[in-house]
Amino acid sequence: MSNHNEHEKQGNERKEMSRRQFLAYTLGGTTAFMAGGVTLPMIRFAVNPLLEKKDKGALIKVVEESKITNEPQEFSFQKHQVDGWYESEAKLSAYISKGEDGKIFALSPICQHLGCTIGWNSDKNYPNEYHCPCHGAHYTKDGKNLAVAPRPLKEYEMEIKNGFIYLGDLMDNTRVK
Ligand code: FES
Repeated sequence: MSNHNEHEKQGNERKEMSRRQFLAYTLGGTTAFMAGGVTLPMIRFAVNPLLEKKDKGALIKVVEESKITNEPQEFSFQKHQVDGWYESEAKLSAYISKGEDGKIFALSPICQHLGCTIGWNSDKNYPNEYHCPCHGAHYTKDGKNLAVAPRPLKEYEMEIKNGFIYLGDLMDNTRVK
């Protein structure tokens, strides 16, 4: 009889243990899952700037230096862009020319008024200037805003290596104020 009771007690304890273990596993699992939910985005935030940095500094080979003249010419190129987890190939273009100082520079064709695309020497009323067909903004060869647009044209970061022009990110125009 006492043996039987002993067995029953042990059996209950075993059951009790396994119930406790079950709860511990379940709660532990839930906590780990929740922690994962919090941690993963944190890891993503920590890693993302690294990815963006890697993408940001990339310079793209655009054209041979020997092709650049005093007259601005438009050149197209593709840039690999990463926006969060979305990656795409952006089609970009730049007006590249040699300034009065003999230095090569590259301007963005995006009008600084409302974002239309400008053209070089594209309006007979504004010879040797960039002109925007949307609301008539016009700019000097260095990108200085002469009317309508509130800012000069943006300039590309540029490097010349082994006879080729490489372009990077857009920045404020360094040639004019
Ligand atoms: S967008 Fe170029 S003038 Fe308005």
